[in-house]
Amino acid sequence: MCGIVGFVSDRKVKVEDLISGLKKLEYRGYDSAGLAYNVNHSIKYLKKPGRISEIEKLLLNEGLLEESFYSGIAHTRWATHGVVSEQNSHPHLDCKEEIAVVHNGIIENFQELRTELEVKGHIFKSETDSEVIAHLIEDKYNGDLFDSVLKALKELEGAYAIAVVHKDKSDQIIAARKGSPLVVASNENISMLASDVTPLLKYSKEMNFLNDGEVAILTPKGYSLFNLEGVPLEKKPIRITWDESLAEKSGYPHFMLKEIFEQPIALESVLVGRLKDGKPQIKEVQSLEGFVKNKMKKVYVVACGTSYHAGLAAKYFMNRYSDIDFDIEVASEFRYMDPVIDSNTLVLAISQSGETIDTLEGVRLAKKKGAYVLAISNVVGSTICRESDAVLYLNTGPEIGVAATKTYTAQIALLYTLAAQLIHWKGYKDEELDDIMRTIEKMPELFRMILDKTNGHMMELVKKYKNFKDMMYIGRIFGFPAALEGALKLKEISYINAIAYQAGELKHGPIALLDDNFPVFAIVPSGKLREKMISNIMEVKARSARVIALTPIDDQQTKKICDDYIDVPTVSEPLIPLVVAPITQLFAYYTAVQKGLDPDKPRNLAKSVTVE
Ligand code: F6R
Repeated sequence: MCGIVGFVSDRKVKVEDLISGLKKLEYRGYDSAGLAYNVNHSIKYLKKPGRISEIEKLLLNEGLLEESFYSGIAHTRWATHGVVSEQNSHPHLDCKEEIAVVHNGIIENFQELRTELEVKGHIFKSETDSEVIAHLIEDKYNGDLFDSVLKALKELEGAYAIAVVHKDKSDQIIAARKGSPLVVASNENISMLASDVTPLLKYSKEMNFLNDGEVAILTPKGYSLFNLEGVPLEKKPIRITWDESLAEKSGYPHFMLKEIFEQPIALESVLVGRLKDGKPQIKEVQSLEGFVKNKMKKVYVVACGTSYHAGLAAKYFMNRYSDIDFDIEVASEFRYMDPVIDSNTLVLAISQSGETIDTLEGVRLAKKKGAYVLAISNVVGSTICRESDAVLYLNTGPEIGVAATKTYTAQIALLYTLAAQLIHWKGYKDEELDDIMRTIEKMPELFRMILDKTNGHMMELVKKYKNFKDMMYIGRIFGFPAALEGALKLKEISYINAIAYQAGELKHGPIALLDDNFPVFAIVPSGKLREKMISNIMEVKARSARVIALTPIDDQQTKKICDDYIDVPTVSEPLIPLVVAPITQLFAYYTAVQKGLDPDKPRNLAKSVTVE
C-alpha cells in the first residue's frame, strides 16, 4: 500500500502543498517519499528513502518548498517490489525524463513488459514494478498524453492507482484506477487527486471516487472521467462531511475497524501473482524448489501471538495434505529450547512487524543451526527480513491498530499458498487441496459478504455479553487456532479474561470453570468433527454456561441447542480460521468500544515488541 497525491492549477499551489497532502497519507506507507512537478516545460523531481519529513527538510534547505508549479504529483511508499532506496522511490520517469508517474498497486506482468521494453532500448533505473508504467507510456507517446496513457493501461495486468504528468502538458494530470483507491476533486482554480479524501478536504468537500477501469483528465478548470476506451462518463461527486481526523480513518471511528474492513483488499494483495486458478506460483520462492525437492525434511514455524496462530493453522493444513514433518513453537520458547533443526529444515519466521525480538532471536538460532530461514512479514526492510535467507511480504499496507487483524488473515492465506507450493514440489496430489486453493482465491469476495452480514449482528450481540468477566473459546483442529485468536483479540482490547481450549480438553480440567457466568464460544465445523463439537456443546450446556455457536449457515440442529448463533459460510474445515476471523475480530472490537475502551491502543501493549 502506498499513497499518491497530485494537484494541477495555474501555479496556485506550491511544493509545500504536495508535502502536506502527502503527510495525510503517511499511514499508507512511510519508507520513502518523492515528488515531481512541471515548471517551465521541464519536470523537476526529488525522491528520498525515509519519512516524508526527510524530503521536506531537503526541500526546505534547497528553498523549493515555496516554489509554485502547474502540475505536480507525489508519493509515499510502502515497498513491495524492490528494497527501500532512492532509485526504487517514486516518481518513476521515462528515459528522457519527460514523463513522471506515481503508482500505488502491483503490476503483475511487469517482468514481461520490462523485458520487451528493454529490447526496444529502454534503460531501467529501479527494481520496481512501477517504473515499467513510465516507460510504457513513453513507448506509446504520440503527443497526446491521455491517449498514450490509455494505450499503456491496456497492457497492464494487476492493480494500480496512477497519476501521470508530462513536461509539455503543464495543464494536465492523467489518473487511472484499477484495484487501488483513487479520488479526484476540484474547486474554481485547482483540480486534485489522492489515494483517499484526507489531503483534499482542505480544498473541496465534493469528491469523485473512481471505480475500476476509470480514467481522469485533471486540468486547472476541473476534471473529466472516461472509461478505458476513452468514452466520457457522467458521474456526480459525493459530498463528504467528515472532518479530517475521521477522514484519516476513511470514515471509520478506529483504525482497527478500518483494518477489519480492509481484509478483502488485503487478501487480494497478498494473493495477487501468487495463486492463479487454484495453482500456487510464488515467484519469490522459486529458487527454493531444488532445496525443497532434494533436501528439505522438515518445516518449522517460529512466531509469537497472532502470527503463531496463523502458523498453527498452517501446521494443520500441511498435515492434512502431506506427510511433510511440520513443527511449530512460540519464539520466546524456541530461542531457549534446543529445537531439532538442521540444514534440512525450512524455518518460517512469521512476524507482521518483522521486529519482534523473540522471533528475531529464533531466526538467529535457526541460522546458526544451518536451517534455511524464510521470513513472512508485512514490513519491507525490517530486521527479521534483512537477517533471513528469503522473504515473503504480506503487502497489506501498514497496520496501525495494535491488535493484528488484516495481517493475520493475509498470513493464513499466504501460508496456505506456500504450503500448497511445497506440497506440489514434494509430489503430493490431492483434489480437495486444489478445491481449497480455488476457494482461497474467492476469499476476498467471501470476506466482503461476511463483513456485510455480521457487522450489525456483532454490534447487537455484544450488548448481551460485554459485561461478563470471563469467556471461553473452543474448537477442534482448524477450529483451535481460530479459538486461540478469537480469545486473544477479545482479551487484549476488552480486558475480559478470554481463554481458548481444544474442545476435547474441557473434561480434563477447564470444564470446572464453567457456570452461567462463563459464556462459551463454540466454533462448529461442517465436516467430520461436527458431531464431536455438538457433544462438547452439550457438556457445556449441562454446566449452565451459555453457548454462542459459530455455525455453518445451514446447520439448523446446532443453532437450536445454543443460546446464540452466528452464521458462518459453509466451507471445508481448513478454511475455518479464515472465515471465523472477521467475526471474532468484530466481536472483540465492539466489546471494547461498548465498554468505553480504545481498541487501537490497548493498555500495556505495543505494535512492535522489540524487548524480551
Ligand atoms: C495480537 C498481536 C500480537 C502479535 C505479536 C507478534 O493482536 O498483534 O500478538 O501478533 O506481538 O507480532 P509480530 O507478528 O509483529 O511478530
